Amino acid sequence: MVPIVKSLRLLADPTRLRLLLLLREEELSVVEIQEILGMGQSRISSHLAQLKAAKLVRDRRAGKNVYYGYADAHDGPFREIIAASAAELLEAKQDRAALKLVRLKRQDKAREYFNKLAGKFGRSYCPGRSWKGVAHMLLSLVGPIVVADLGAGEGTLAQLLARHARQVIAVDNSEKMVEFGASLAKEHGFENLEYRLGDLEEPPIEPESVDLALLSQALHHAGNPARTIAAAYRILKPGGRIAILDLLSHQFEKARELYADLWLGFSEAQLDEMLREAGFREIDIAVVDREPDAPHFQTLFAAAAK
Ligand SMILES: C[S@@+](CC[C@H](N)C(=O)[O-])C[C@H]1O[C@@H](n2cnc3c(N)ncnc32)[C@H](O)[C@@H]1O
Repeated sequence: MVPIVKSLRLLADPTRLRLLLLLREEELSVVEIQEILGMGQSRISSHLAQLKAAKLVRDRRAGKNVYYGYADAHDGPFREIIAASAAELLEAKQDRAALKLVRLKRQDKAREYFNKLAGKFGRSYCPGRSWKGVAHMLLSLVGPIVVADLGAGEGTLAQLLARHARQVIAVDNSEKMVEFGASLAKEHGFENLEYRLGDLEEPPIEPESVDLALLSQALHHAGNPARTIAAAYRILKPGGRIAILDLLSHQFEKARELYADLWLGFSEAQLDEMLREAGFREIDIAVVDREPDAPHFQTLFAAAAK
């Protein structure tokens, strides 16, 4: 609760009223208040200190600046008096116009920064802007659908999808992966995420039962990639979609040894042919990434509809 007598004395001063009217609109630094009121710093600081002591104003430090704001949780009996004073104070209108300029100046600073970045934004650092973050956001847009994650591994994608999908079936032919993924899903409480042991070419999933079939870095492990894509087609409902992330064909032979790859990626034409032969339509294929380090693997993304 604000001290009543002290506060009444404070409100009897037009400069303090002008300050309160301004701070009701916007948190401001002393420098900004100086610009608006056209007064010296020490005078403003002294008024602010008194208002703060009476709990009518609060402050917040942001880096080198201190911002003052209106403590609306404490203005109880004075709220209406302060608001009504705007009509009587000749300077109040002028202060509002000057406040507008201060706001514009703030926006200009940010605009100037982004103006310089235009055209380079994708390549320059932006705190917190990561592909991982973007993936989380995009995966949250998945509706209540049934997803088959084929060659799911530990299920990083499957778990992200299970947050919003109706059901996710993660298929893998490695017992250890299935065991590990299933226990992880249980630990994280995903009742709609089921792991099944099975092969990409014959996934243990009912025909025409899923809305989305995913093959993320799995196709190059398939004994027969064309048969794998045909199997994905079989389990999809009419209108369902396939999404494939794989490697663009490369010459890095060591991948067979290092990563147990059976295929050294695929060309866009090979993927297109396999999808077409399986019966898919609306085929869209693109190279979406190139690693900066040798052997410069490139990521191929393909999507199509049944
Ligand atoms: C490179 S990992 C990709 C994991 C996951 N999709 C991802 O993007 O993080 C490939 C996975 O496919 C599985 N896999 C390989 N051959 C398979 C097959 N014939 N049938 C089913 N899963 C297979 C492996 O056990 C492994 O977990």
